[in-house]
Amino acid sequence: MACESEKWVLMVTAQTPTNIAVIKYWGKRDESLILPINDSISVTLDPEHLCTTTTVAVSPSFDQDRMWLNGKEISLSGGRYQRCLREIRSRASDVEDEKKGIKITKKDWENLHVHIASYNNFPTAAGLASSAAGFACLVFSLAKLMNVKEDQGKLSAIARQGSGSACRSLYGGFVKWIMGKHDDGSDSIAVQLADEKHWDDLVIVIAVVSSRQKETSSTSGMRESVETSMLIKHRAKEVVPKRIVDMEEAIKNRDFPSFAHLACADSNQFHAVCLDTCPPIFYMNDTIIGCVEKWNRSEESPQVAYTFDAGPNAVLIARNRKVAASLLQRLLFHFPPSSDADLSSYVIGDKSILQDVG
Ligand code: ADP
Ligand code: DP6
Ligand code: CO
Repeated sequence: MACESEKWVLMVTAQTPTNIAVIKYWGKRDESLILPINDSISVTLDPEHLCTTTTVAVSPSFDQDRMWLNGKEISLSGGRYQRCLREIRSRASDVEDEKKGIKITKKDWENLHVHIASYNNFPTAAGLASSAAGFACLVFSLAKLMNVKEDQGKLSAIARQGSGSACRSLYGGFVKWIMGKHDDGSDSIAVQLADEKHWDDLVIVIAVVSSRQKETSSTSGMRESVETSMLIKHRAKEVVPKRIVDMEEAIKNRDFPSFAHLACADSNQFHAVCLDTCPPIFYMNDTIIGCVEKWNRSEESPQVAYTFDAGPNAVLIARNRKVAASLLQRLLFHFPPSSDADLSSYVIGDKSILQDVG
Protein backbone atom coordinates (compact mmCIF):
# COMPACT_ATOMS: atom_id res chain seq x y z
CA MET A 1 0.00 0.00 0.00
CA ALA A 2 1.80 3.14 -1.19
CA CYS A 3 0.86 6.33 0.57
CA GLU A 4 2.75 9.05 2.42
CA SER A 5 0.34 9.22 5.30
CA GLU A 6 -1.84 6.70 7.11
CA LYS A 7 -4.56 9.35 7.37
CA TRP A 8 -6.09 9.04 3.93
CA VAL A 9 -9.71 8.14 3.28
CA LEU A 10 -11.08 7.06 -0.08
CA MET A 11 -14.82 7.43 -0.59
CA VAL A 12 -17.48 6.53 -3.12
CA THR A 13 -21.16 7.53 -3.10
CA ALA A 14 -23.89 5.82 -5.10
CA GLN A 15 -27.64 6.11 -5.40
CA THR A 16 -30.05 3.26 -6.19
CA PRO A 17 -33.83 3.34 -6.66
CA THR A 18 -36.30 1.00 -5.04
CA ASN A 19 -38.51 -1.37 -7.04
CA ILE A 20 -42.06 -2.48 -6.48
CA ALA A 21 -43.18 -5.95 -7.51
CA VAL A 22 -46.32 -6.29 -9.58
CA ILE A 23 -46.02 -10.09 -9.43
CA LYS A 24 -44.71 -10.74 -5.95
CA TYR A 25 -41.81 -12.75 -4.62
CA TRP A 26 -42.92 -14.37 -1.37
CA GLY A 27 -41.19 -17.53 -0.16
CA LYS A 28 -37.71 -19.01 -0.40
CA ARG A 29 -36.57 -22.51 -1.30
CA ASP A 30 -33.07 -21.73 -0.01
CA GLU A 31 -32.73 -19.33 2.92
CA SER A 32 -29.01 -18.77 2.78
CA LEU A 33 -28.54 -18.25 -0.99
CA ILE A 34 -31.94 -16.50 -1.15
CA LEU A 35 -33.54 -18.55 -3.89
CA PRO A 36 -37.27 -17.94 -4.40
CA ILE A 37 -40.14 -20.37 -4.95
CA ASN A 38 -41.51 -18.39 -7.89
CA ASP A 39 -40.52 -15.84 -10.53
CA SER A 40 -41.43 -12.20 -9.89
CA ILE A 41 -41.77 -9.00 -11.95
CA SER A 42 -41.24 -5.47 -10.72
CA VAL A 43 -41.09 -1.89 -11.84
CA THR A 44 -38.10 0.17 -10.78
CA LEU A 45 -39.06 3.60 -9.49
CA ASP A 46 -37.57 6.88 -10.59
CA PRO A 47 -34.36 7.32 -8.52
CA GLU A 48 -35.18 10.98 -8.06
CA HIS A 49 -38.06 10.10 -5.74
CA LEU A 50 -37.53 6.92 -3.73
CA CYS A 51 -33.94 5.87 -3.38
CA THR A 52 -31.07 4.88 -1.15
CA THR A 53 -27.88 6.90 -1.06
CA THR A 54 -24.85 5.06 0.27
CA THR A 55 -21.34 6.32 0.89
CA VAL A 56 -18.61 3.77 1.44
CA ALA A 57 -15.20 4.78 2.72
CA VAL A 58 -11.94 2.95 3.22
CA SER A 59 -8.98 4.05 5.30
CA PRO A 60 -6.03 2.32 6.97
CA SER A 61 -7.13 4.04 10.18
CA PHE A 62 -10.42 2.03 10.31
CA ASP A 63 -9.99 -0.97 12.57
CA GLN A 64 -13.28 -2.72 11.74
CA ASP A 65 -16.14 -2.67 9.22
CA ARG A 66 -18.96 -0.45 10.46
CA MET A 67 -22.30 0.73 9.10
CA TRP A 68 -24.77 3.51 9.84
CA LEU A 69 -28.33 3.33 8.50
CA ASN A 70 -30.27 6.59 8.51
CA GLY A 71 -27.74 8.01 10.98
CA LYS A 72 -27.85 5.14 13.48
CA GLU A 73 -25.15 2.53 13.75
CA ILE A 74 -26.33 -0.99 12.90
CA SER A 75 -24.56 -4.31 13.30
CA LEU A 76 -22.87 -5.83 10.27
CA SER A 77 -22.66 -9.24 11.92
CA GLY A 78 -25.74 -10.57 10.10
CA GLY A 79 -25.07 -13.20 7.45
CA ARG A 80 -26.47 -11.06 4.62
CA TYR A 81 -24.16 -8.09 5.17
CA GLN A 82 -21.21 -10.42 5.67
CA ARG A 83 -21.98 -12.28 2.49
CA CYS A 84 -22.19 -9.12 0.37
CA LEU A 85 -18.96 -7.77 1.87
CA ARG A 86 -17.16 -11.07 1.34
CA GLU A 87 -18.36 -11.50 -2.24
CA ILE A 88 -17.30 -7.99 -3.22
CA ARG A 89 -13.98 -8.06 -1.31
CA SER A 90 -12.97 -11.30 -3.00
CA ARG A 91 -13.34 -9.58 -6.38
CA ALA A 92 -11.53 -6.34 -5.51
CA SER A 93 -8.76 -5.13 -7.82
CA ASP A 94 -6.01 -2.52 -7.68
CA VAL A 95 -7.09 1.05 -7.05
CA GLU A 96 -4.97 4.11 -7.67
CA ASP A 97 -5.73 7.72 -6.80
CA GLU A 98 -2.82 9.75 -8.13
CA LYS A 99 -4.00 13.06 -6.67
CA LYS A 100 -4.10 11.65 -3.17
CA GLY A 101 -1.05 9.47 -3.75
CA ILE A 102 -3.01 6.34 -2.84
CA LYS A 103 -2.32 2.94 -4.28
CA ILE A 104 -4.26 -0.07 -3.00
CA THR A 105 -3.40 -3.49 -4.35
CA LYS A 106 -5.75 -6.45 -4.62
CA LYS A 107 -4.00 -8.04 -1.64
CA ASP A 108 -4.37 -4.88 0.51
CA TRP A 109 -8.18 -5.11 0.37
CA GLU A 110 -8.10 -8.26 2.51
CA ASN A 111 -6.87 -6.22 5.48
CA LEU A 112 -8.60 -2.90 4.92
CA HIS A 113 -11.89 -2.06 6.65
CA VAL A 114 -14.81 -0.04 5.34
CA HIS A 115 -17.25 2.39 6.88
CA ILE A 116 -20.69 2.55 5.27
CA ALA A 117 -23.24 5.32 5.70
CA SER A 118 -26.61 4.73 4.06
CA TYR A 119 -29.71 6.85 3.92
CA ASN A 120 -33.17 6.01 2.57
CA ASN A 121 -35.22 9.02 1.48
CA PHE A 122 -38.42 7.04 2.18
CA PRO A 123 -39.66 4.95 5.14
CA THR A 124 -37.39 2.04 6.07
CA ALA A 125 -38.88 -1.42 6.72
CA ALA A 126 -42.39 -0.12 6.01
CA GLY A 127 -43.24 -2.07 2.85
CA LEU A 128 -41.68 0.19 0.25
CA ALA A 129 -38.80 -2.19 -0.46
CA SER A 130 -36.04 -0.43 1.47
CA SER A 131 -34.12 -3.71 1.57
CA ALA A 132 -34.17 -3.77 -2.25
CA ALA A 133 -32.76 -0.27 -2.74
CA GLY A 134 -30.52 -0.70 0.32
CA PHE A 135 -28.70 -3.88 -0.63
CA ALA A 136 -28.51 -2.99 -4.33
CA CYS A 137 -26.86 0.29 -3.35
CA LEU A 138 -24.54 -1.35 -0.83
CA VAL A 139 -23.25 -3.85 -3.38
CA PHE A 140 -22.98 -1.26 -6.14
CA SER A 141 -21.08 1.29 -4.05
CA LEU A 142 -18.70 -1.31 -2.56
CA ALA A 143 -18.01 -2.65 -6.05
CA LYS A 144 -17.18 0.85 -7.25
CA LEU A 145 -14.90 1.53 -4.29
CA MET A 146 -13.05 -1.75 -4.70
CA ASN A 147 -12.86 -1.51 -8.49
CA VAL A 148 -14.73 -4.77 -9.01
CA LYS A 149 -14.79 -5.61 -12.69
CA GLU A 150 -17.99 -7.64 -12.79
CA ASP A 151 -21.00 -6.89 -14.97
CA GLN A 152 -24.40 -5.79 -13.66
CA GLY A 153 -25.67 -9.39 -13.75
CA LYS A 154 -23.04 -10.56 -11.28
CA LEU A 155 -23.61 -7.56 -8.98
CA SER A 156 -27.34 -8.27 -9.12
CA ALA A 157 -26.70 -11.90 -8.06
CA ILE A 158 -24.61 -10.67 -5.10
CA ALA A 159 -27.30 -8.13 -4.12
CA ARG A 160 -29.83 -11.00 -4.18
CA GLN A 161 -27.89 -12.60 -1.34
CA GLY A 162 -28.45 -9.44 0.72
CA SER A 163 -32.18 -9.24 0.04
CA GLY A 164 -34.00 -11.13 -2.70
CA SER A 165 -35.85 -8.12 -4.08
CA ALA A 166 -32.53 -6.22 -4.35
CA CYS A 167 -31.46 -8.18 -7.43
CA ARG A 168 -34.18 -6.33 -9.40
CA SER A 169 -33.04 -2.83 -8.35
CA LEU A 170 -29.83 -2.98 -10.41
CA TYR A 171 -31.95 -2.50 -13.54
CA GLY A 172 -34.40 0.22 -14.55
CA GLY A 173 -37.82 -0.21 -16.13
CA PHE A 174 -39.61 -3.56 -15.84
CA VAL A 175 -37.53 -6.38 -14.42
CA LYS A 176 -38.09 -10.10 -14.03
CA TRP A 177 -36.34 -12.18 -11.38
CA ILE A 178 -36.15 -15.69 -12.79
CA MET A 179 -36.31 -18.18 -9.91
CA GLY A 180 -33.92 -20.63 -11.60
CA LYS A 181 -33.63 -24.36 -11.08
CA HIS A 182 -30.07 -24.97 -9.91
CA ASP A 183 -29.27 -25.51 -6.22
CA ASP A 184 -26.23 -23.21 -6.40
CA GLY A 185 -28.39 -20.25 -7.51
CA SER A 186 -26.39 -19.71 -10.70
CA ASP A 187 -29.56 -19.36 -12.80
CA SER A 188 -31.57 -17.33 -10.28
CA ILE A 189 -31.03 -13.97 -11.95
CA ALA A 190 -32.76 -10.70 -12.75
CA VAL A 191 -33.27 -9.61 -16.36
CA GLN A 192 -34.65 -6.38 -17.75
CA LEU A 193 -37.93 -6.92 -19.64
CA ALA A 194 -38.31 -3.33 -20.88
CA ASP A 195 -36.45 -0.12 -20.15
CA GLU A 196 -37.83 2.96 -18.37
CA LYS A 197 -38.92 4.63 -21.61
CA HIS A 198 -41.01 1.70 -22.82
CA TRP A 199 -44.22 2.68 -20.99
CA ASP A 200 -43.73 6.23 -19.81
CA ASP A 201 -47.45 7.12 -19.75
CA LEU A 202 -47.69 5.32 -16.42
CA VAL A 203 -47.53 7.48 -13.30
CA ILE A 204 -46.78 5.92 -9.94
CA VAL A 205 -48.22 7.53 -6.84
CA ILE A 206 -47.18 6.27 -3.43
CA ALA A 207 -49.54 6.85 -0.56
CA VAL A 208 -47.64 6.69 2.70
CA VAL A 209 -50.10 5.48 5.31
CA SER A 210 -47.54 4.82 7.99
CA SER A 211 -43.77 5.28 8.16
CA ARG A 212 -43.53 3.02 11.15
CA GLN A 213 -41.37 -0.07 10.97
CA LYS A 214 -43.49 -3.17 10.33
CA GLU A 215 -43.81 -5.76 13.06
CA THR A 216 -42.98 -8.73 10.87
CA SER A 217 -40.03 -8.30 8.51
CA SER A 218 -40.42 -9.65 4.98
CA THR A 219 -37.78 -12.27 5.72
CA SER A 220 -39.54 -13.78 8.73
CA GLY A 221 -43.02 -13.23 7.26
CA MET A 222 -42.25 -15.27 4.17
CA ARG A 223 -40.49 -17.95 6.21
CA GLU A 224 -43.63 -18.39 8.31
CA SER A 225 -45.80 -18.48 5.17
CA VAL A 226 -43.64 -21.22 3.63
CA GLU A 227 -43.84 -23.21 6.86
CA THR A 228 -47.58 -22.90 7.49
CA SER A 229 -49.60 -21.74 4.47
CA MET A 230 -51.25 -24.21 2.09
CA LEU A 231 -52.25 -21.43 -0.25
CA ILE A 232 -48.63 -20.45 -0.91
CA LYS A 233 -47.94 -23.83 -2.55
CA HIS A 234 -50.88 -23.45 -4.90
CA ARG A 235 -49.84 -19.84 -5.62
CA ALA A 236 -46.21 -20.68 -6.45
CA LYS A 237 -46.97 -23.74 -8.58
CA GLU A 238 -50.29 -23.04 -10.25
CA VAL A 239 -50.97 -19.31 -10.21
CA VAL A 240 -47.75 -17.33 -10.58
CA PRO A 241 -46.24 -19.16 -13.61
CA LYS A 242 -49.25 -18.24 -15.74
CA ARG A 243 -49.41 -14.71 -14.35
CA ILE A 244 -45.76 -14.16 -15.24
CA VAL A 245 -46.45 -15.04 -18.88
CA ASP A 246 -49.55 -12.82 -18.96
CA MET A 247 -47.81 -9.92 -17.21
CA GLU A 248 -44.88 -10.02 -19.64
CA GLU A 249 -47.38 -9.88 -22.49
CA ALA A 250 -49.29 -6.98 -20.88
CA ILE A 251 -46.07 -5.01 -20.40
CA LYS A 252 -44.89 -5.72 -23.93
CA ASN A 253 -48.20 -4.50 -25.39
CA ARG A 254 -48.69 -1.66 -22.88
CA ASP A 255 -52.07 -3.25 -22.17
CA PHE A 256 -53.25 -1.37 -19.08
CA PRO A 257 -56.47 -3.33 -18.36
CA SER A 258 -54.54 -6.63 -18.24
CA PHE A 259 -51.67 -5.04 -16.32
CA ALA A 260 -54.02 -3.58 -13.71
CA HIS A 261 -56.01 -6.77 -13.37
CA LEU A 262 -52.90 -8.92 -12.87
CA ALA A 263 -51.14 -6.50 -10.50
CA CYS A 264 -54.17 -6.05 -8.25
CA ALA A 265 -55.00 -9.77 -8.25
CA ASP A 266 -51.43 -10.71 -7.42
CA SER A 267 -51.16 -8.19 -4.60
CA ASN A 268 -54.44 -9.48 -3.18
CA GLN A 269 -53.34 -13.11 -3.41
CA PHE A 270 -50.03 -12.34 -1.73
CA HIS A 271 -51.92 -10.74 1.17
CA ALA A 272 -54.31 -13.71 1.22
CA VAL A 273 -51.24 -15.91 1.72
CA CYS A 274 -50.21 -13.65 4.61
CA LEU A 275 -53.64 -14.18 6.18
CA ASP A 276 -53.33 -17.92 5.50
CA THR A 277 -50.10 -17.94 7.53
CA CYS A 278 -50.19 -19.18 11.11
CA PRO A 279 -50.25 -16.94 13.08
CA PRO A 280 -51.77 -14.65 10.41
CA ILE A 281 -49.82 -11.63 9.18
CA PHE A 282 -51.62 -8.35 8.45
CA TYR A 283 -49.66 -5.94 6.31
CA MET A 284 -52.18 -4.18 4.14
CA ASN A 285 -54.54 -1.24 4.54
CA ASP A 286 -57.78 -1.99 2.70
CA THR A 287 -59.38 1.48 2.63
CA ILE A 288 -57.50 2.57 -0.48
CA ILE A 289 -58.32 -0.68 -2.30
CA GLY A 290 -62.02 0.01 -1.71
CA CYS A 291 -61.73 3.48 -3.29
CA VAL A 292 -59.75 2.27 -6.32
CA GLU A 293 -61.95 -0.77 -6.93
CA LYS A 294 -65.10 1.40 -6.85
CA TRP A 295 -63.60 3.90 -9.26
CA ASN A 296 -62.33 1.23 -11.68
CA ARG A 297 -65.72 -0.47 -11.73
CA SER A 298 -67.50 2.80 -12.50
CA GLU A 299 -65.41 3.24 -15.68
CA GLU A 300 -65.37 1.23 -18.88
CA SER A 301 -61.88 -0.09 -18.12
CA PRO A 302 -59.50 0.21 -15.14
CA GLN A 303 -57.86 3.56 -14.53
CA VAL A 304 -55.56 2.72 -11.65
CA ALA A 305 -53.73 -0.41 -10.50
CA TYR A 306 -52.83 -0.90 -6.86
CA THR A 307 -50.23 -3.06 -5.25
CA PHE A 308 -49.11 -3.44 -1.64
CA ASP A 309 -45.81 -4.92 -0.54
CA ALA A 310 -45.25 -6.24 2.96
CA GLY A 311 -46.56 -3.09 4.63
CA PRO A 312 -49.54 -0.72 4.72
CA ASN A 313 -48.32 1.79 2.12
CA ALA A 314 -50.12 1.79 -1.22
CA VAL A 315 -48.40 1.89 -4.58
CA LEU A 316 -50.89 3.21 -7.12
CA ILE A 317 -50.19 3.08 -10.84
CA ALA A 318 -52.28 5.45 -12.94
CA ARG A 319 -52.67 4.75 -16.63
CA ASN A 320 -51.65 8.29 -17.57
CA ARG A 321 -51.02 11.80 -16.18
CA LYS A 322 -54.65 12.87 -16.43
CA VAL A 323 -55.77 9.89 -14.37
CA ALA A 324 -52.91 10.53 -11.90
CA ALA A 325 -54.14 14.08 -11.35
CA SER A 326 -57.64 12.80 -10.72
CA LEU A 327 -56.29 10.08 -8.42
CA LEU A 328 -54.48 12.65 -6.31
CA GLN A 329 -57.60 14.75 -6.10
CA ARG A 330 -59.56 11.75 -4.86
CA LEU A 331 -56.87 10.80 -2.34
CA LEU A 332 -56.72 14.34 -1.01
CA PHE A 333 -60.52 14.40 -0.76
CA HIS A 334 -60.85 11.07 1.04
CA PHE A 335 -57.74 11.46 3.16
CA PRO A 336 -57.01 15.15 3.67
CA PRO A 337 -53.44 15.34 5.00
CA SER A 338 -54.43 17.70 7.80
CA SER A 339 -57.15 15.42 9.16
CA ASP A 340 -56.90 12.37 11.40
CA ALA A 341 -57.41 10.20 8.35
CA ASP A 342 -55.08 7.31 7.69
CA LEU A 343 -53.02 8.92 4.99
CA SER A 344 -50.31 11.12 6.38
CA SER A 345 -48.43 12.06 3.26
CA TYR A 346 -48.07 11.40 -0.40
CA VAL A 347 -44.96 10.80 -2.36
CA ILE A 348 -45.65 11.82 -5.88
CA GLY A 349 -44.15 10.04 -8.87
CA ASP A 350 -44.12 13.21 -10.92
CA LYS A 351 -43.99 16.65 -9.34
CA SER A 352 -45.83 18.36 -12.16
CA ILE A 353 -48.92 16.27 -11.43
CA LEU A 354 -49.30 18.14 -8.17
CA GLN A 355 -49.44 21.41 -10.06
CA ASP A 356 -52.24 19.98 -12.20
CA VAL A 357 -54.19 19.31 -9.02
CA GLY A 358 -53.53 22.76 -7.65
P1 ADP B 1 -38.86 -3.36 3.31
O1 ADP B 1 -40.30 -3.60 3.03
O2 ADP B 1 -38.59 -1.93 3.60
O3 ADP B 1 -37.95 -3.91 2.25
P2 ADP B 1 -37.73 -5.53 4.90
O4 ADP B 1 -38.28 -6.18 6.11
O5 ADP B 1 -37.67 -6.34 3.66
O6 ADP B 1 -38.55 -4.18 4.67
O7 ADP B 1 -36.24 -5.05 5.15
C1 ADP B 1 -35.90 -4.05 6.04
C2 ADP B 1 -34.43 -4.24 6.39
O8 ADP B 1 -33.61 -3.98 5.24
C3 ADP B 1 -33.94 -3.24 7.41
O9 ADP B 1 -34.25 -3.64 8.71
C4 ADP B 1 -32.43 -3.29 7.15
O10 ADP B 1 -31.86 -4.44 7.72
C5 ADP B 1 -32.37 -3.47 5.64
N1 ADP B 1 -32.15 -2.16 5.00
C6 ADP B 1 -33.05 -1.18 4.78
N2 ADP B 1 -32.48 -0.11 4.21
C7 ADP B 1 -31.18 -0.43 4.04
C8 ADP B 1 -30.06 0.27 3.50
N3 ADP B 1 -30.18 1.49 2.99
N4 ADP B 1 -28.86 -0.35 3.49
C9 ADP B 1 -28.72 -1.60 3.98
N5 ADP B 1 -29.73 -2.32 4.50
C10 ADP B 1 -30.96 -1.74 4.54
C1 DP6 C 1 -43.56 -8.34 -0.58
O1 DP6 C 1 -36.72 -9.07 -0.67
O2 DP6 C 1 -37.58 -7.88 1.36
O3 DP6 C 1 -41.76 -6.95 -1.24
O4 DP6 C 1 -35.26 -11.65 0.50
O5 DP6 C 1 -35.93 -11.91 2.88
O6 DP6 C 1 -34.82 -9.80 2.11
P1 DP6 C 1 -35.72 -10.95 1.74
O7 DP6 C 1 -37.15 -10.33 1.46
P2 DP6 C 1 -37.56 -9.10 0.56
O8 DP6 C 1 -39.05 -9.53 0.19
C2 DP6 C 1 -39.82 -8.77 -0.66
C3 DP6 C 1 -41.25 -9.21 -0.60
C4 DP6 C 1 -42.21 -8.26 -1.29
C5 DP6 C 1 -42.45 -8.69 -2.73
C6 DP6 C 1 -41.37 -8.40 -3.74
O9 DP6 C 1 -40.63 -7.42 -3.62
O10 DP6 C 1 -41.31 -9.16 -4.73
CO1 CO D 1 -37.73 -5.88 1.67
